[in-house]
Amino acid sequence: MTSHDRAEQHDGTPAPEVRLERDGAVAVITIDRPKALNALSPAVLDALAAILEELATDPAGLAGVLLVGAGGRAFVAGADISAMPGLTPDEGAQTAERGHGVAAAVEALPLPVIACVDGYALGGGLELALACDFIYATEASRFGQPEVHLGLIPGFGGTVRLPRAVGPALAKELIYTGRQLGVDEAVQAGLVLRRFADREALLAGARETVERIGANAATAVALAKRVLVGAAGTPTATATLLEIEGFRDAFRTDDMREGVAAFLEKRDPEFTGR
Ligand code: CAA
Repeated sequence: MTSHDRAEQHDGTPAPEVRLERDGAVAVITIDRPKALNALSPAVLDALAAILEELATDPAGLAGVLLVGAGGRAFVAGADISAMPGLTPDEGAQTAERGHGVAAAVEALPLPVIACVDGYALGGGLELALACDFIYATEASRFGQPEVHLGLIPGFGGTVRLPRAVGPALAKELIYTGRQLGVDEAVQAGLVLRRFADREALLAGARETVERIGANAATAVALAKRVLVGAAGTPTATATLLEIEGFRDAFRTDDMREGVAAFLEKRDPEFTGR
């Protein structure tokens, strides 16, 4: 098997285009369609949605999720362009709705999700990464919203989340020109949180972060994510109310009682995730 071929399962059949592996506290979702640079076909979007639903239903024992692209050339090179010819305007809108549904499911997941970008994150690929909690990337990564080259605009949330991540001026420049950012500029712009020399270092760094998260109360991490996601882009007064509600909900958890008691008793907490 070359690095560009799709992995095979034990029985010789091709591996699914999206896989979920659980390794201790770390879940890894792999988009494995390297011949099309992991482009988000309708089938890939549906498979991602199903896996995210599975994780949302049963997050117990997990501390976080890594989202990765297979093949070594791309995280995801966008929505699947080959699925676009012949779509009616309503079918185009349905494609956008499908992508937005996946982005919303990433944000709704009660676990932090790290986009692990190694290679191209373009169009719908950058939009998927932007729905994650933060982006770690290798030196070889490239970021952009090239939809205008195709007569399209971003359709999976780029006009919404990119300005929040990098500010409106750079987001507009990127969306209007379609130019790509290298990792230097992406870090400088605040789009990429941490850079790594290569894929191995990237995955090790992301795992380490999830393991650090896993030492904390899973209930508190999930509440913090709920508030942070809900508050994004809302006025201060609305965001403040969301935080108060989250703080209230923390007092409903065993983990909060345990964390506070352990501090006062000068011992390590034993969190249960309840
Ligand atoms: N959809 C479908 N297939 C894609 C694809 C995509 N987004 N991106 C790459 N591929 C396919 C190519 O067609 C090619 O397939 P074949 O080997 O069968 O010809 C294969 O992946 C390898 O790609 P290239 O030969 O083009 O590789 P390259 O190294 O020359 O170029 C690239 C790499 C610059 C990423 C180039 O592939 C490219 O520009 N891809 C398209 C990027 C893009 O426009 N993304 C936005 C899509 S629209 C969108 O995402 C809308 C939205 O917001 C929801």
